Amino acid sequence: MKMESAWIGRRKKGMVIGMEQYIIKGGNPLVGEVAIGGAKNAALGILAGAIMADESVILHNLPDVRDINVLLEAIEGSGAIVERKSRHTVLLNGSTIYNMTVDNSYIKKMRASYYLLGAMLGKYHHAEVSLPGGCNIGSRPIDQHLKGFRAMGATAVVRNGMIVVDTEHLMGAHIYFDMVSVGATINVMLAAVLADGRTVLENCAKEPHVVDVANLLNTMGARIKGAGTDVIRIDGVEKLHGADYSVIPDQIEAGTFMFAAAATRGDVTVKNVIPKHLECLTSKLREIGCEVSEFDDAVRVVSKGRLSHSTIKTLPYPGFPTDMQPQMAVLLALSEGTSTITESIFENRFKYVDELNRMGSDIKVEGNTAIINGIPALMGAQVTAPDLRAGAALVIAGLAADGITTVEDIGYILRGYEDFACKLRSLGGMIEEVESEREIQKFKMSVVG
Ligand code: UD1
Repeated sequence: MKMESAWIGRRKKGMVIGMEQYIIKGGNPLVGEVAIGGAKNAALGILAGAIMADESVILHNLPDVRDINVLLEAIEGSGAIVERKSRHTVLLNGSTIYNMTVDNSYIKKMRASYYLLGAMLGKYHHAEVSLPGGCNIGSRPIDQHLKGFRAMGATAVVRNGMIVVDTEHLMGAHIYFDMVSVGATINVMLAAVLADGRTVLENCAKEPHVVDVANLLNTMGARIKGAGTDVIRIDGVEKLHGADYSVIPDQIEAGTFMFAAAATRGDVTVKNVIPKHLECLTSKLREIGCEVSEFDDAVRVVSKGRLSHSTIKTLPYPGFPTDMQPQMAVLLALSEGTSTITESIFENRFKYVDELNRMGSDIKVEGNTAIINGIPALMGAQVTAPDLRAGAALVIAGLAADGITTVEDIGYILRGYEDFACKLRSLGGMIEEVESEREIQKFKMSVVG
């Protein structure tokens, strides 16, 4: 009660802006070292896989971000034991699961809760998960997931907004995906691990997180071969056992810091990464004029003068990741010459362009291609994050721009980046998370100088 009236009081005085924002004073090159956390997209599949055993699975290096915490809540809601051992370590035990329904409140917050469909179908032969709608980056059908489950003998129907998958007997099958899908590859692989007989998946996604989910499942006793290639063979086993497993580093978080270093003409060593997973980003950065050094588990990005233009097309791994496309657009907006970015994975991933143009960039979108005429500098402005990765890109733009930028709707960014502002500050970035007009004024006073 007390908190609510304090809130109303602040709002009456016009001080509360009502949403978390970042406020950024640009112009400081980012310099120093930053450590990368566990891969969010790997961890989502891994959490679902972990509940397929009736023994405890201890997972390390889980990122403490909203998407992961929402999935942990959904898993707890199923009756599984979820014990947070420390900020990045969680113990899960699926032996106590009694509820195979994942309602819309979870799916609304986090689409990939649908991995519980594959995991529960494999383990219990039944699951009900709210049907995910479209999202900010476009319509995102899950027909390939369902095609896989059906090929294995399950029925998959939509009832009252829920997808209900059910079978008496889950059988191995030969499945050829119509398009390369990370989600469908992981979801069907999860179910196939406990199916009867052999499943062969063709035209699979080869992303490092697909491999990481397969590695966890194999550590739990599954028999999966070929993850990381386009054909995955899975011999079903009767049950899985407990395990102790550490999630791989997040290649998109790493890439975001690499690009932030490049955009601010900085010098940043990004630690705790697998440089191989970053190769396509590394080679693009070199192509446009950055120096990139690779070490065993770190990469250093040094950017001195103005960068040059490039041509980008997003593709499934090992191609240029769609999740790094908005951050790349910021670099190219500041580069010399005209660049193009073609988005071939999601139809609606240029929503940030209008926001970036408010900061002075010269970008036009024609169909699924953005044409970027490079400019020497961006100017601070008030912008809104349209989705997770575009939000991160606007933060990079703010760090590189002259003057003050505010980024609204940072809830999207917090879904996937742990301690984002704090890590950027440790590199010399002037950025604060603020919630009131007073905090904004305080920040502005602190950066005048
Ligand atoms: C995952 C990532 C996301 C990344 C994307 C592409 C997670 C939680 N999210 O999303 O960050 O941007 O991979 O690298 O890991 N498609 C269909 N039918 C399907 C499945 C997919 O048509 O059944 C289409 C999608 O609309 C899209 C393309 O296939 O055009 C690729 O999507 P997919 O790889 O499945 O993306 P997600 O797994 O949703």
